[in-house]
Amino acid sequence: MSSPLLRLVVLYGGVSAEHDVSRVTAAHVLAAADRGRYTLVPVGIAKDGSWHRNDFAAAALAAGDDIGNSLDIEGPVVDPVEVITGASDVTTVVFPLLHGPHGEDGTVQGMLELHKVPYVGCGVLSSSLCMDKGMAKEVAARAGIPQCRWVTLRHGVDDPRAGAARAIDELGLPVFVKPANMGSSVGVSRAGTAEELDRAITEALRYDDVVVIEEAVTAREIEVGVLGNGVPETTLPGEIRPGSDFYDYTDKYVTGAAQLMIPADLPDAAIAQARELAGQVFVALRCAGMARVDFFYEEDGRGWLLNEVNTIPGFTPASMYPKMWEATGLAYPDLIDRLVALALDVYRRRSSFSIEHA
Ligand SMILES: Nc1ncnc2c1ncn2[C@@H]1O[C@H](COP(=O)(O)OP(=O)(O)O)[C@@H](O)[C@H]1O
Ligand SMILES: [Mg+2]
Repeated sequence: MSSPLLRLVVLYGGVSAEHDVSRVTAAHVLAAADRGRYTLVPVGIAKDGSWHRNDFAAAALAAGDDIGNSLDIEGPVVDPVEVITGASDVTTVVFPLLHGPHGEDGTVQGMLELHKVPYVGCGVLSSSLCMDKGMAKEVAARAGIPQCRWVTLRHGVDDPRAGAARAIDELGLPVFVKPANMGSSVGVSRAGTAEELDRAITEALRYDDVVVIEEAVTAREIEVGVLGNGVPETTLPGEIRPGSDFYDYTDKYVTGAAQLMIPADLPDAAIAQARELAGQVFVALRCAGMARVDFFYEEDGRGWLLNEVNTIPGFTPASMYPKMWEATGLAYPDLIDRLVALALDVYRRRSSFSIEHA
């Protein structure tokens, strides 16, 4: 008798600015997942936060039909707990394909932990740590990871004007200003003057209470995919050549003008350094399963500088993370299988911990 299929719940949509991107990602992951191995359960999260079990897509997938390039949020409203815990006689693994706040930031991961459900990717701590650009920098700095210079300011603690003055004093101009907890370049701006900096801080404070201000670096943007638990495996680096001033939201999702170069054209020694460093970052920030580690590469300066870590990177077949794995010898459907296996490993290990006093 063949073993029962594993139930793979794919969460997509979500309440963040990256809702639409997530719907595209989910369509591709579901289409590529091995139907001989998984019962696929697509669950869309609407912008109002309600959860919908997409039975139409599930039926189409089961029939081998095309589900298109982007999944709608449709189907019956379901109780999140019911859908993630599912049937007690089959193993369920949840694949959160949710980017940004309330998906990539540890909140959904916390819910899954509470209900003892295995899930793909980073746990609560590393998810929220990597989501917070300020805290991630603190921890990475402590681990000796090279980064650009930065300052943070916090609403209710620091006066924005004083924070701006401190930033100019410590970093000079121009600078990049970012809300600590966002993604997709939302709320990110470049400021070349004191007035622009004030405006940029006001803009960033619309999205979060913590604002990170960084020296603007002139560097190539290079990314490395990481996979594993503990000591991870890494991909060949890929490069982003932004289509505009910087890699902003329009460039990422509207015009798609940015060019992706995979693998990046770099000397062997630089490639080895980037991969080594990406692995160190992954470990330092307690990542598990997957992450995409984004660097600035100052060719004639400081070399590798960590920019940020994405714990749920873009995941369409045209996205950096899967394409870098492809270039490194791991095909898209196999990547999905590896991630599910890693999720189960973490789950088994966590379940084995003693909670009793010896
Ligand atoms: N310190 C910096 N110097 C130069 N360019 C930057 C800097 N920080 C960000 N950028 C540009 O802005 C883009 C978005 O910033 P990033 O921190 O990666 O935010 P997000 O999490 O939204 O992707 C980067 O890909 C890069 O093009
Ligand atoms: Mg980025």
